[in-house]
Amino acid sequence: MNILITGGAGFIGTNLAEFHINRGDTVVAVDDLSTGSLNNISELVEHEGFTFFEADFLKWNRLTEEVAKADRIYHLAAVVGMFRVIQEPTTVIRVNVCGTERLLETAANCKSKAQIIVASSSSVYGHKHHSKDLREDNDLTYSPEEGGLTGYALSKLVNEVQARAYCHEHGLRVIIPRFFNVVGPHQTGTYGFVIPRFIQQALAGQPLTVFGDGNQIRSFCDVRDMIKSLDQLAKIGTGPDSSVCGKAINVGNTREIRIIDLAKMVIARTGSSSEIMFVPFDEAYGEHFDQITQRKPNVDKLKHLTGFTPEWTLEETIDDLLKKNLTGGILQCA
Ligand SMILES: NC(=O)c1ccc[n+]([C@@H]2O[C@H](COP(=O)([O-])OP(=O)(O)OC[C@H]3O[C@@H](n4cnc5c(N)ncnc54)[C@H](O)[C@@H]3O)[C@@H](O)[C@H]2O)c1
Repeated sequence: MNILITGGAGFIGTNLAEFHINRGDTVVAVDDLSTGSLNNISELVEHEGFTFFEADFLKWNRLTEEVAKADRIYHLAAVVGMFRVIQEPTTVIRVNVCGTERLLETAANCKSKAQIIVASSSSVYGHKHHSKDLREDNDLTYSPEEGGLTGYALSKLVNEVQARAYCHEHGLRVIIPRFFNVVGPHQTGTYGFVIPRFIQQALAGQPLTVFGDGNQIRSFCDVRDMIKSLDQLAKIGTGPDSSVCGKAINVGNTREIRIIDLAKMVIARTGSSSEIMFVPFDEAYGEHFDQITQRKPNVDKLKHLTGFTPEWTLEETIDDLLKKNLTGGILQCA
C-alpha cells in the first residue's frame, strides 16, 4: 500500500510510519517540523520505503502528485498542544482549517479512492458536557467567553464538517477518529502533553508540575492501541455507502486517572525522589483558561466496528517510555 502522512514527523505520525514500514508498505511523510522533529524519523529514513519531505503542506507543491498515488492518507498535520494553541490562535485556523480544506479539495480533484483519515479530537466536546462518558452523538456547547482552547476545538469540529461534506458531495472515503489523550514513544512534553513532561521531570529529580489541584481526570490511550484501531477502521470499507464514512468515531481508552494520581504513578515507577508542585492554571496557561474536569470516551461504536480492546495498560506504557528514554533518548521535553 502507498501511505501518505501529513504531520509524519510528529508523535502519532512517526508511530504510524513505523507501523506501515514494518508491514512492508511505502510511506511518504510531509512535515514542516514546527512540532515534529527529524530525530523522530532518524531510523525511518534508513528504509527505502520511507520518503520524507520537509514542507509546509499548505504550500507543498507535490501534494497533488502524492495524493493521487496514495491508497491511504492520514491527515495529522495541525497546530497542537495547549501552549502552542493558546499562543498562536491564528496559526491554528490557518493550518487546521485551511490545511484540511486543501487536502480534501486536492483529493476530490484527483477523484481519490484512498482511505482518508482526518484526525479529530476529544476537544470537540467543549467544556460544558454533562454526561460522564462522551458519546459521538452528544450535543456540543461552546461559550463565547471561553478561553484559548476554543479555537482549537472549533477547528477540529470544522475539520469533521469538512470531511463529512467532501464525503457526501465528492464520495471521498473519509473516516474521522476523535482521539482522546494519546500517549507513547516520540511524544514531546514541550507543547503541553503531560506524561512526557512528568517523566522528564521525575528523571531529572525536579518537582512534577501539576496544573490546578490535580483533580482533573483524563483517560490515556497508548498510541499502538490507537493505530491498530485506525487500521481496522480504515479497512472496514469507507465507501460513500459505508456506515463509517464521514462519521466521527471516538478512539481512546476508558480507564480514568486523576492527574495527581498520574504524577504519583510516574514518581513511583521512576523511583524518583521528586516532589509534586501545584501550579495555578492561569500561571501555566495565562488568564481565562477554561479547565476541563473530565474527559472519558464512550467507545461502544469503536468496539462494535472493530472489537477494540486496548492491550497496553498505562503502567506498561510508562515503563516502556522509561526504558526507551534510558536507552535511546526517544522522549523529548524542553
Ligand atoms: N496526541 C494527542 O493526544 C491528540 C489528541 C487529539 C487529537 N490529536 C490530533 O492528532 C494529530 C497528530 O497530533 P500529534 O499528537 O502527533 O502532534 P504532533 O505535534 O506531534 O504532530 C503534528 C505534526 O504536524 C506538523 N505540522 C504542523 N503544521 C504543519 C504544516 N503547516 N505543514 C506540515 N506539517 C505541519 C508538526 O510539525 C507535527 O509534526 C493532530 O491533528 C492532533 O490534533 C492528537
